[in-house]
Amino acid sequence: MKNIVRINSKINPYNKIIEIPGDKSISIRCMLLASQAIGISRIFNLLKSGDVNNTIKSLKKLGIKIYNKENYTEVIGVGLNGFNFKNNITIDAGNSGTFARLVCGLLAKTNKSVKMVGDDSLSNRDFSRIIHPLRLFGVNFKTKNNKLPMHILGSNYLKPIIYKEKLGSAQVKSAIMIASLNTPGVTKIISVPSRNHTEIMFKSCLNIPIRINKKKKVEEIKIKGQNNYKSFDYKIPGDISSAAFLIVLTILSKNSKLLIKNVNVNETRSGIIILLKKMNAKIKISNKKNYKGEKVADIQIASSSKLKAINCPKELNTKTIDEFLILFLVCAKAKGVSKFVSLGELRQKESDRLKIASNFLKSIGVNIRENKSALKIYGNPQLEIKKKITIKNFLKDHRVFMMSCIAALTLGGHFTIYDKDSINSSFPNFIKILKKLGARII
Ligand code: S3P
Repeated sequence: MKNIVRINSKINPYNKIIEIPGDKSISIRCMLLASQAIGISRIFNLLKSGDVNNTIKSLKKLGIKIYNKENYTEVIGVGLNGFNFKNNITIDAGNSGTFARLVCGLLAKTNKSVKMVGDDSLSNRDFSRIIHPLRLFGVNFKTKNNKLPMHILGSNYLKPIIYKEKLGSAQVKSAIMIASLNTPGVTKIISVPSRNHTEIMFKSCLNIPIRINKKKKVEEIKIKGQNNYKSFDYKIPGDISSAAFLIVLTILSKNSKLLIKNVNVNETRSGIIILLKKMNAKIKISNKKNYKGEKVADIQIASSSKLKAINCPKELNTKTIDEFLILFLVCAKAKGVSKFVSLGELRQKESDRLKIASNFLKSIGVNIRENKSALKIYGNPQLEIKKKITIKNFLKDHRVFMMSCIAALTLGGHFTIYDKDSINSSFPNFIKILKKLGARII
């Protein structure tokens, strides 16, 4: 059948150089922020995926003109709150939590109502985390149980807020930061650190008045609102969250080497590299450069046979948030017991990733202990899968699909994996790249 893949053999040794598609978080931010700039922005290497497509389609519905040029995407900015659309339109965020939450900040001042819908996975996710702070600004929401579908109506009388962001969620922080653009006065966020692409773009790309004060456990971010900014050019680096699957493929394969070029290695996203290195994985970062405040580098990986367990410091949780599924696979093959705590946010993703990971690991013969927000994985360096495994009903979570493929290609067994189209959310050419490395996928 079409939307199913079958993997019946491990990948043979390879030695290759690849590039991976543009960063999803930065792609969505570039499109949203370019739409509110004054003038024409050019976005190079924009991720061409379902989540970014839904961003583009929705922005077009809000009256933004976006054109696909030969090697870049052109966005005709309309200035802050310059949207032009009819009352009661519906925008479809599809699978994208990032777009859905950040666009609410962008709509903070609209005087027309917007209905937002999403797919089954997104319709199950919590929006109270952004509804609460945005209501404090004065934005109006109508929802049942703080979930999609919901109606958003902005306010002409926005007032700045002081908000403590305790979840370590970059989506919440960014929705507030974006709402502050339309708000008079200074908005202050006291935030548990999380990915900082919005801060970097505000500061190094858009020249928006922003102050960041790093304290021991939190960061204080202050933004002065109502300053229009100019359009920009941006070349989006590769996505480390996509690279992570190929990094782990190489670590767990025999006699293989991989060089992944031009990956964003922003410190707030690089927990996976720190943790894998601590586990004895062979990874080298080279050619590090600064691009508009982001760090971009090449990542060299080699097969690593002496993996040891990790006791994951909880300070690394937000820096690794999208990579835990694939990291757990390395733990399954490492010597010793790996321990993770304070991982409740993993239950809030495209699927309940803590539950799915536990069920998956159990099904391939790994001992685990799971509670509300913690996981222990009893690693086994001799782990081999011999049986038939079927992976389905995972709410089409792209990262569950990709993790399952990497398990099949490195641990053996006969895998049937459903919902291949899920990769369209973040990494549409995932299977193509695996095949280029030599994987046999039917
Ligand atoms: C993202 C932030 C993270 C991450 C998501 C992308 C972003 O979510 O899991 O894939 O681009 O801001 P949270 O902010 O909810 O942790």
